[in-house]
Amino acid sequence: MGKFIVKGPVKLKGEVNISGSKNAALPILFASLLIKEVIEIKNIPKLKDIDVVIKLFLHLGVKIKNSKSLIINASNLYNNFNFPKNLIKSIRASIWLVSPLLFRLKKINIFLPGGCSIGIRPVDLHIKYLQKLGANIYIKNNYIIGSIDKEFKGSHIIMKKSSVGATISIILAAIYAKNITIIDNAAREPEIKDLINFLNIMGANIKGAGTNKIIIKGVLQLRGGIYTIMDDRIETGTFLIAAAISRGNILCKNTNPKNLKIVLKKLKYSGAEIKTGINWCSINMNNKKPKAVNIITGPYPNFPTDMQPQFTLLNCIASGFSIVQETIFENRFLYIHELNKMGAKIFIKNNKAFCKGVSSLYSTKIKATDLRASISLVLAGCIATGITIIDNIEYIDRGYEDIEKKLISLGAKIKRLK
Ligand code: EPZ
Repeated sequence: MGKFIVKGPVKLKGEVNISGSKNAALPILFASLLIKEVIEIKNIPKLKDIDVVIKLFLHLGVKIKNSKSLIINASNLYNNFNFPKNLIKSIRASIWLVSPLLFRLKKINIFLPGGCSIGIRPVDLHIKYLQKLGANIYIKNNYIIGSIDKEFKGSHIIMKKSSVGATISIILAAIYAKNITIIDNAAREPEIKDLINFLNIMGANIKGAGTNKIIIKGVLQLRGGIYTIMDDRIETGTFLIAAAISRGNILCKNTNPKNLKIVLKKLKYSGAEIKTGINWCSINMNNKKPKAVNIITGPYPNFPTDMQPQFTLLNCIASGFSIVQETIFENRFLYIHELNKMGAKIFIKNNKAFCKGVSSLYSTKIKATDLRASISLVLAGCIATGITIIDNIEYIDRGYEDIEKKLISLGAKIKRLK
């Protein structure tokens, strides 16, 4: 596995262009399997997860031109389900093959999806709600197996928890369904709003984007077109934290601060000077040490779980005590053991991390455990005294485009060892 060698402490400051959102690009790509005309998708980030989707699509016979944007022609699909298991298992997003292929090929037979080791990551809600929409679908020997007669049938679904993934699976199944589908307690993440925006531009009939009540009226077909993916709000939040922990100042460009309201509010509580515009936001610590801030993660618009490791890092070098409570995933504190090796003082009890701010971290050998943890450990290396070696760094390439280039442009001293 690759390593990063990081020299600290450095102050991270300057300007950074935010890339397209991984968690908007993935569902929009799978939604393109529902469209028989050519579509062009712009602002797709160059990430390992996107590369996996392209390989899955090529396996299905989708024609793809991958230049500055992705030009996709899914007019003809092979009836071919023997995807390489390692591909399907390498990303959580492969679960979004199920709805489009059930509609297009009238059956599904794929290995269970993977994803970061932040929890068990079940798909029971996807299965339950697709059954409600008329699919004859079940899990057997770690395979998702199913079929539909002709088409999905609209239904009124009241989600028992606001699952982002399951909300997306329902939307993709309901696009062409007979009658109307209503989703109550739907997830409201901005990435779902971006998916709905994309689908409506291509001819779908979906109301309620960004609310927890989504109403989908089945249509006969979608048309081709061009679409630009929204910016990655978690990348923006990550770079804001980079400035907060190193007492620097960073301007994030091509990003919509409205999708990060609670993160900006928490950064202001920690003493940061935050400025925002229509498509930018900036942070200046004015050379101050951040103050500790309590965090409770939750479905949007609550504090995003994908920003939890980054804020825990801030808390471990902030002044004062804080509690970070993780309510979404049951195993998202793995990285804390690595931070404690660097001198952090964090104690975990159930789904809470109790942080006592320390004056500084010291460098040592650590290893990444999942995507958002890996970037937090790299940032920890940027502020630790000495040379930190971070192993298993491939996780980072799943979600952060050109990460070394961007960090070095902000003053980081970082080198990748293959
Ligand atoms: C999406 O994961 C994101 N991934 C995650 O980002 C993000 O953390 C998460 O939503 C929450 O915002 C992508 O968009 C590719 P969920 P997903 O379904 O869809 C449980 C990152 O770092 N659940 O909202 O898997 C589940 O176990 C990644 O970019 C079931 O119990 O999240 C979890 O506890 C990490 N049964 C909770 O719901 C199900 O069938 C929320 O999961 C589905 C989910």
